[in-house]
Amino acid sequence: MNMLQNQVALVTGSARGIGRSIVERLLQDGAIVYINDLKAEDIESTIQELNEQYQFEDRLFGIEGDVSNDEIVKPMIEKILSAHNRLDILVNNAGITRDGLMMRMSVQDFELVLKVNLTSAFLCSKYASRKMLSQKYGRIINISSVVGVMGNAGQANYSSSKAGMIGLTKSLAKEFGSRGVTVNAIAPGFIETAMTHHLSEEVRNKFLESIPLRRAGTPNDVAGVVSFLCSPDAAYITGQVIHVDGGMVM
Ligand SMILES: NC(=O)c1ccc[n+]([C@@H]2O[C@H](COP(=O)([O-])OP(=O)(O)OC[C@H]3O[C@@H](n4cnc5c(N)ncnc54)[C@H](O)[C@@H]3O)[C@@H](O)[C@H]2O)c1
Repeated sequence: MNMLQNQVALVTGSARGIGRSIVERLLQDGAIVYINDLKAEDIESTIQELNEQYQFEDRLFGIEGDVSNDEIVKPMIEKILSAHNRLDILVNNAGITRDGLMMRMSVQDFELVLKVNLTSAFLCSKYASRKMLSQKYGRIINISSVVGVMGNAGQANYSSSKAGMIGLTKSLAKEFGSRGVTVNAIAPGFIETAMTHHLSEEVRNKFLESIPLRRAGTPNDVAGVVSFLCSPDAAYITGQVIHVDGGMVM
């Protein structure tokens, strides 16, 4: 399918996990896609694997950098714009956890998670939207979380950052709507990736019991919704939080 042909996409934190699946799906939809992550070697090995599988060579690029750093994000977006002179899709996916109960959570761990998960989405949206607004077209998708909606003991920092992404989504949807730029959030539930790999059997089973569909989600479950939100069929959807959680939160 080529529904995103000639569209340029940036997916942050996408050398692995959910971001990688989003990259794969947007490439299958025909887009030109930039993989961003912290380490050049991680990006390179993902690009190599995807090219071995599908031969996307001319539409798949890497761009290394910490998206929570203003001095890095600005030139990163400028580099993409100087190569293609457009940016159509931004998926703010980069994220980390530093879990701990409130009594033991340091201010450093609180601020770090806010910076990597939320400030990064602010910065990338800020620089990408300049072009999107002038070209009168854009799709911004923020990967939030169900815990941004319902909270979670031991994740005061993470759930605050993910709730913040929902506020950012709704505010930007209101600011950008009249210029053809939609902004939506996805709230994944329990998805099998490196981020959830360390959870104990007990915690895992507890999660599964709370999911009506009785299975963990896959990165592809999230990628499919990103693809939909980028499609012409989603042109009239903005400011929404779409749960991809097997019914965990309703
Ligand atoms: N896995 C889940 O169950 C789940 C549930 C809800 C939401 N999410 C969210 O989905 C997103 C992807 O999660 P995942 O499970 O694939 O995690 P992951 O840890 O597998 O992948 C995250 C990627 O982001 C990159 N990254 C981290 N900090 C970065 C930075 N400052 N700049 C650029 N890249 C950076 C990491 O190197 C990594 O490749 C995250 O925002 C996460 O919070 C995940």
